[in-house]
Amino acid sequence: MKKIIVLISGSGSNLQAIIDQIKLNNINASIECVISNNEDAYGLIRAKESYINTQVINHNNFDSREDFDQKLIYEIEKYNPDLVVLAGFMRILSPIITSKLIGKIINIHPSLLPKYPGLNTHAKVLENKDIIHGVSIHYVDDGLDEGPLIAQGEISINAHDDIDKVIERIHKIEHDLFPYIIKLICNNLITLDENKILYSDDIELNDKNIIYKKYDI
Ligand code: GRF
Repeated sequence: MKKIIVLISGSGSNLQAIIDQIKLNNINASIECVISNNEDAYGLIRAKESYINTQVINHNNFDSREDFDQKLIYEIEKYNPDLVVLAGFMRILSPIITSKLIGKIINIHPSLLPKYPGLNTHAKVLENKDIIHGVSIHYVDDGLDEGPLIAQGEISINAHDDIDKVIERIHKIEHDLFPYIIKLICNNLITLDENKILYSDDIELNDKNIIYKKYDI
């Protein structure tokens, strides 16, 4: 069984989706700790309700990003995790963290990367009248929302979609795709080798060699 640490900053609906799939024995892992930089994150309540360890490391209590990251990696390494999952963790991580977790840390980002790294992705999609949108799951490296892409989920944008509707639809596909990818990683069916992702032979990939799902949600 793999040991996972989940980092959050907010609502934790992705965390909940992962917890639910672990409880259903669909993911062969245990969440050793949920760490939040925000003491008010609702995800902390979700974790406690499932009897999962929680820890708050408030970045405001540190003089620099580096000091915060040193503390964070110190706490993460105590658990010797197989996988660190960024599930709505709203801090940019420095190489202090990323260099120590290469191939063991993944993020979910609400856009079809490389389109729209950073914040406000849904507003940008609507502003630009894009006809498709989606989510990306990637290994984390030093860049902002960069690092080798593992999978993407796509939705079409409907004429009547407003921002709330888009967020709702994006969350639905996140809650399907993220636990699925975590399951594959925990079963050693996806690994990172020298910046190249290795997928098990029976996993279907698109022409860009990533998992790509179109959702009709
Ligand atoms: C998700 O949309 C995720 O893609 C982004 O932050 C959001 C977190 O939502 N990185 P939640 O806290 O899991 O509900």
